[in-house]
Amino acid sequence: MKTIIEPFRIKMVEPMKMTSREERAKLIEEARYNLFFLKARDVMIDLLTDSGTSAMSSDQWSAVMRGDEAYAGSESYFRFEQAVRDIYGFEHIIPTHQGRAAEKILFSNLCKDGDVVPNNTHFDTTRANVEYTGAEARDLVIPEGRVPSEIHPFKGNMDIDALQRTIDEVGVDNIPLIMLTITNNSGGGQPVSMENIRMVSEIAHSNGIPFFLDACRFAENAYFIKLREDGYSDVSMMDIANEIFSYADGCTMSAKKDGLANMGGFLALNDAELAESCRHLLILTEGFTTYGGMAGRDLDAVATGLREVLSEDYLKYRISSTDYLGRKISENGVPIMQPPGGHAIYIDAKAMLPRIPPLQYPAQALAVELYIEAGIRAVEIGTAMFGKYDPETGEETAAPMELLRLAIPRRVYTQSQIEYVIEAILNVMERKDSIVGLKMVKQAPFLRHFTAEYEPLSD
Ligand code: F0G
Repeated sequence: MKTIIEPFRIKMVEPMKMTSREERAKLIEEARYNLFFLKARDVMIDLLTDSGTSAMSSDQWSAVMRGDEAYAGSESYFRFEQAVRDIYGFEHIIPTHQGRAAEKILFSNLCKDGDVVPNNTHFDTTRANVEYTGAEARDLVIPEGRVPSEIHPFKGNMDIDALQRTIDEVGVDNIPLIMLTITNNSGGGQPVSMENIRMVSEIAHSNGIPFFLDACRFAENAYFIKLREDGYSDVSMMDIANEIFSYADGCTMSAKKDGLANMGGFLALNDAELAESCRHLLILTEGFTTYGGMAGRDLDAVATGLREVLSEDYLKYRISSTDYLGRKISENGVPIMQPPGGHAIYIDAKAMLPRIPPLQYPAQALAVELYIEAGIRAVEIGTAMFGKYDPETGEETAAPMELLRLAIPRRVYTQSQIEYVIEAILNVMERKDSIVGLKMVKQAPFLRHFTAEYEPLSD
């Protein structure tokens, strides 16, 4: 059979409100053309993020009921610890309420002013948490990873020469750790090969530098390794995951992605001394060592989700449905970041709307059009998010890329809903020359994309 079906049945449904184009045009105007200001009930297909938006399974809901809410030493914690240990293999497992809390604890313990942290591409919270300690977050993805149209099987790989040059330039004493993000979210959800993970590990260890993975989408990365890397087609997902983590000294994890849970995360590592000082900070900011920032029921949902996410049937469906969306729109002329990533499709708005200059936010304009067209909410990753505005001079610099991310929540939308998204994008593509840019009329000093207000420019 050629048709790949959802490997689950739907037992519970959440009705969605259908809206008309006229209603949506009014709603987005009221939201000052910022999709973060829309009420979720006014969105039909919500592709804002794949984080914390997964549909949990019947086993996960059963596990929720089993949750042991003891403050210390709960059964839920031990089930969680066992699941994490089986997959990741690290000695010390420190639960946190989400990924960025694990980052904050790890970097607070390792980084200081003047340090440099290499990564393929830092996710924005990872970058912010590194920079908060005074260290520099340096992105060293391979050159192919920076060109949206370039095809490469492992576009998330670290540039090994650039990593070596960075070590030579700044010195091992100023590199407290090396990280790799699997899959590379900010670089388009692109995977990292096992070979690259092994090479980065060798370089880190031969220089005595700890090596950590940002493991949010580890299962999707593991499946890409199985599909694309020589020697892995017959290896089980669990064995691939075990091998990935065997090269690292630890990881940060947001269970809101490949944990298939709505909340949760952890820091896991082998160094006992570092783990102890991380636990001190954990108690200060998150909670006792056996719950971190999570309820017992959340620990159980994550423990169950982590085992489910390694199902090959699930990953096959997951990766093929994202690929299907990407392929269908790109075959019809929509420029996307190639090849389709694991969790999201990124439309290259600079290439699609060349008439709209970066300082008129082409990807935001596209997000607005897609909402009006079909009630779909996507997120701008371009100048609204990463451009720099100087309030003193009023000068603004554009971001290197203008992307619109369509992130697919796990197990939430059906094939016909994905077909609807494809149709909507192609309709917008057809009338792309009538789309106008936006003017930002209000902005905050940082993370401005969340609260910015816009007005459409006249053609
Ligand atoms: N690392 C990566 C690669 C991420 O994608 C995220 C979150 C985090 C760390 C932080 O995890 O949200 O649990 O604190 N990414 C979400 C997204 C928000 O929409 O891509 P968190």
